[in-house]
Amino acid sequence: MWRLGVLLTLIAVSEQLSILTFDVPNAVRAGDDAALRCQYELSPDESDKTLFVKWWWTPINGSSDERSQLYQRIAGRDPVAIHHNIKIEENDGILLLNVSVKDSGVYECEVSNIDEVRVYEKLIVFTPGSGVELDVIRTEDGPDADEDEEVIVSCKVEAVAPYPHLTITVDGELVNTTDLVINSSDELYDAYSNVTLSDDATAGSEITCRLAFADVNVTDISFVATEIYNGTGLTTESTTEVASTEATENYEINSQALSSVSWSVIILAVSFLLY
Ligand SMILES: *[C@@H]1O[C@H](CO)[C@@H](O)[C@H](O)[C@H]1NC(C)=O
Ligand SMILES: *[C@@H]1O[C@H](CO)[C@@H](O)[C@H](O)[C@H]1NC(C)=O
Ligand SMILES: *[C@@H]1O[C@H](CO)[C@@H](O)[C@H](O)[C@H]1NC(C)=O
Ligand SMILES: *[C@@H]1O[C@H](CO)[C@@H](O)[C@H](O)[C@H]1NC(C)=O
Ligand SMILES: *[C@@H]1O[C@H](CO)[C@@H](O)[C@H](O)[C@H]1NC(C)=O
Ligand SMILES: *[C@@H]1O[C@H](CO)[C@@H](O)[C@H](O)[C@H]1NC(C)=O
Ligand SMILES: *[C@@H]1O[C@H](CO)[C@@H](O)[C@H](O)[C@H]1NC(C)=O
Repeated sequence: MWRLGVLLTLIAVSEQLSILTFDVPNAVRAGDDAALRCQYELSPDESDKTLFVKWWWTPINGSSDERSQLYQRIAGRDPVAIHHNIKIEENDGILLLNVSVKDSGVYECEVSNIDEVRVYEKLIVFTPGSGVELDVIRTEDGPDADEDEEVIVSCKVEAVAPYPHLTITVDGELVNTTDLVINSSDELYDAYSNVTLSDDATAGSEITCRLAFADVNVTDISFVATEIYNGTGLTTESTTEVASTEATENYEINSQALSSVSWSVIILAVSFLLY
């Protein structure tokens, strides 16, 4: 499971109840499981007869009225999962199974005995949807007045979450693009980005399109499509990869994302053969 966890070890400030470990991953890929931990410690002379532990979920930017309970353990009784897709783990941990983008939100652990302690953290479920598709098309009659040949670079990604942002670079230089993001269905977005460049200036360049998300650390979760534009309208190389700045963290591109990019490359290649 890919995750960027926040591990907080809180130091006891009072004689009473304290949280030893609180861990909520802040980015989880849709379809993965997410392990949430909340382990408390009682002071040596404290009885747990009145203890209870609860997990709560609130939507991102949601109000307290929208808070819903996920888990409960009351002293002397068995723990109860209040949602169907939760596996109960030891020490009041819960495992959210097969998360979807709807599971994004703030997860709060409440431990109550004589004192009450609440800790919470935001968790974002992301999905790369269709994966990034990059098209580089040469046009003899561009939108501007001059006769020069132009290259239309367009990039898209569909059914992604959270809110996406596409950027196009030419040999590493960011270019100004025309962008459009559509809320395509409940919580999923489609993003489109394009730019028209001069054919001469672009020949031999490496054109890259990157997907990033607004709500999660963008550099860790960017999908990339790259093509070398060789100046004759044909691209000689195409790769899709996941950029991860965490050397130890690796996750696979889903096959759907890969194949849709491969298809776009094949379709692009075929369309040029027809010219
Ligand atoms: C939450 O609120 C912030 C600030 O108002 C906003 O930028 C963000 O888009 C909101 N997120 C969602 C999921 O509504
Ligand atoms: C995971 O959830 C999705 C819907 O969000 C569902 O289509 C899929 O079958 C589930 N996978 C498993 C292994 O339960
Ligand atoms: C991009 O647009 C901004 C404002 O429209 C302009 O100041 C800037 O020079 C443009 N950059 C490039 C590389 O064209
Ligand atoms: C996206 O659109 C759906 C309806 O298609 C709507 O229910 C939802 O609130 C919208 N979400 C955002 C963030 O605008
Ligand atoms: C570029 O994107 C804009 C907004 O999505 C769209 O209206 C326009 O037709 C696109 N241009 C090209 C050449 O694809
Ligand atoms: C995002 O990740 C980079 C590299 O791992 C890190 O330097 C940066 O502080 C992170 N930003 C946030 C907002 O977590
Ligand atoms: C551009 O790529 C095409 C197809 O790979 C090749 O036939 C052509 O010779 C290349 N042109 C240059 C200038 O490299």
